[in-house]
Amino acid sequence: MKRISLTQHLIEEQRLHNTIPAELRLLIEVVSRACKTISHAVGKGALGDVLGVAGSENVQGEVQKKLDIMSNEMLLLANEWGGHLAAMASEEMESFHPIPNRYPKGEYLLLFDPLDGSSNIDVNVTIGTIFSVLKAPEGMKEPTEQDFLQPGSKQVAAGYAVYGPQTMLVLTTGNGVNCFTLDREMGSWVMTQRDISIPEDTAEYAINASNARHWYPPVSRYISELEAGVEGPRGKNFNMRWIASMVADVHRILTRGGVFMYPADARDPSKPGKLRLMYEANPMSMIIEQAGGAATDGSTRILDIQPTALHQRVPVFLGSKNEVERVTSYHAG
Ligand code: AHG
Ligand code: MN
Ligand code: MN
Repeated sequence: MKRISLTQHLIEEQRLHNTIPAELRLLIEVVSRACKTISHAVGKGALGDVLGVAGSENVQGEVQKKLDIMSNEMLLLANEWGGHLAAMASEEMESFHPIPNRYPKGEYLLLFDPLDGSSNIDVNVTIGTIFSVLKAPEGMKEPTEQDFLQPGSKQVAAGYAVYGPQTMLVLTTGNGVNCFTLDREMGSWVMTQRDISIPEDTAEYAINASNARHWYPPVSRYISELEAGVEGPRGKNFNMRWIASMVADVHRILTRGGVFMYPADARDPSKPGKLRLMYEANPMSMIIEQAGGAATDGSTRILDIQPTALHQRVPVFLGSKNEVERVTSYHAG
């Protein structure tokens, strides 16, 4: 079988669609190289002294794990010097990170969730890295937070690395979704799935059901109909999975379909859901849509939301089209 490397794919994609100029290719290669380094650290576990907490909190008041901080540092260091970026922003940093003056600056903005699924680090369950790429606004001199606040539909690339039994990279640059598996011996990303497509129908859903008592009526109605199975209004049985790493749940949905939900609920009305628009919802929604699925916040297409703050949270319903459309329709009125 002919092996197609990530580099070969990016070059051929540029020839075909003109969507990956050299600077963007460099960016994607640098990010994916950093993900290899993170994957290596993740794989070492206790032997590499990477487990446990760092003793600090991030801007959203969440306890930071050692790997949250290490992965953030790895991505920052890898991406600073190449000349392809104007600035970076991360779930783990309060304000964005400009490119130091000693390096040339480029025209892209990179956003990331360096380590997704932190609660799974210490229990050896799948975790990941999520990233999103925007173009800096025309004529931008010194980057400001405002420059990052573009709707997800403006992303020029989005992807994630998943550190599971295999390390994989899933990538879109706006012409479908492809998956690469890390060949650990060779140190290279090899294409293992091309043009991934999510089935429109599914019998599998993902939600943290421990929050059921806080859900708003549209979500309660939708989930109770799924739970009612073959005897209920849906007339079929549904199965449930919840990994508590969005990357792992989304990866399952890309592979065999499903619907993933992290709704807003009545616990704390100041927090519209848990997931972050810029680092989680936008990149994942671009990937899901590019694979033929759908992604909404219950009423609006996620990629159409105009962001108002770097760390803003958003309710998320994404995956197989027909289920996302159904749960979204329950929110109407
Ligand atoms: P992070 O580890 O980057 O903070 O993200 C965790 C997110 C997401 O990956 C996952 O789907 C969700 O939080 C899990 O939330 P619960 O702990 O409420 O299940
Ligand atoms: Mn996350
Ligand atoms: Mn994270």
